[in-house]
Amino acid sequence: MIPHSRPFIDPQDREEVDKALASGCLAQGEQVALFERDLCSFIGVRHGAAVSSGTAALHLALAALGTGPGDEVVVPSFVCSALLNAVHYTGAKAVPADIDPLTYNLDAVDTARRIGKKTKAIIVPHLFGTAADLDEVISLGVPVIEDCAQSVGSLYKGRFTGSRGLISIFSFYATKVIATGEGGMAVSNDGGLMESIRDLREYDGKANYRIRFNYKMTDFQAALGRSQLRKLPAFIERRREIAGRYNETLGKLGVAVPQTRPDRDHIYYRYVLPRPPETFLKAMQEMGVGCRKPVFKPLHGYLGLFGYPNTEAAWRKSVSVPIYPGLNENEIRTVTEAMKEACSRI
Ligand SMILES: Cc1ncc(COP(=O)(O)O)c(C=O)c1O
Repeated sequence: MIPHSRPFIDPQDREEVDKALASGCLAQGEQVALFERDLCSFIGVRHGAAVSSGTAALHLALAALGTGPGDEVVVPSFVCSALLNAVHYTGAKAVPADIDPLTYNLDAVDTARRIGKKTKAIIVPHLFGTAADLDEVISLGVPVIEDCAQSVGSLYKGRFTGSRGLISIFSFYATKVIATGEGGMAVSNDGGLMESIRDLREYDGKANYRIRFNYKMTDFQAALGRSQLRKLPAFIERRREIAGRYNETLGKLGVAVPQTRPDRDHIYYRYVLPRPPETFLKAMQEMGVGCRKPVFKPLHGYLGLFGYPNTEAAWRKSVSVPIYPGLNENEIRTVTEAMKEACSRI
């Protein structure tokens, strides 16, 4: 069975983790500071704070903006429930907005309709590896948190995603583009906001007391993150190569392959096709290929809301097939043949 996703860990990664373990520093230390420096210089931002997950980074980003009970945070409905959790941790209300049917990203026009006096922030994920309409959302005049959990290394108008939001967050979960097992980072050019995020993370040895959060990353995770980051360009190149192979095969069958809008690229964190999940997933499973719904359940579904036609359509008709640097040639052939067969049937 070819799994839907699989981390890529090589001997160099293991060596770097080993060195970090041998250093005797197991908790947050020099490697964490160096990982923050490395990612910030790669993305082109000034400050970064590594944390224990992407969700933790989102929570601290919202907290640093002063989000709390009585506030609202706009999020796309077509995304994982981590965003709902991060908003709810602060006591604020999550307000889902509909998506662009072409890229599955937040729709700026629907977002504008959901904004009101209580809106504290907008979380903008760049889903599946291609950027959302960031400038249109930023122009709405509400603080924007870019969510780059799925888009590290993708470009928007010539700059990396994560370089324009007031705060941006990353996830290094085991099967993300680069992995530290669990992990995340918040980055920003705003020194004051980052000071606040760091203060919330460094909970001990303070003169004052307020609720702070033990969201720290360990040094051996950071060592792995640094090693993975060095391979990011090669990871992306390989993802694009595989996507190119899938595109060629499916294009010949007239299947709509993943698209994006002008002024941005695609790193193919996910390869999403417009097919009904129930039948497609079963057919692929029978041919030895593990596929998934790209989003388990839209957020408006959890909240009992209605009025999200593009999200509903995407949920009813989208599937995610395996695409990751560790796929070997045989596996790529198997996935391609299985997709061809399943797409011609379904
Ligand atoms: C778009 C998006 N944002 C945030 C998260 C949360 O990241 P983590 O799993 O590291 O908490 C995820 C992860 O699954 C995600 O896909």
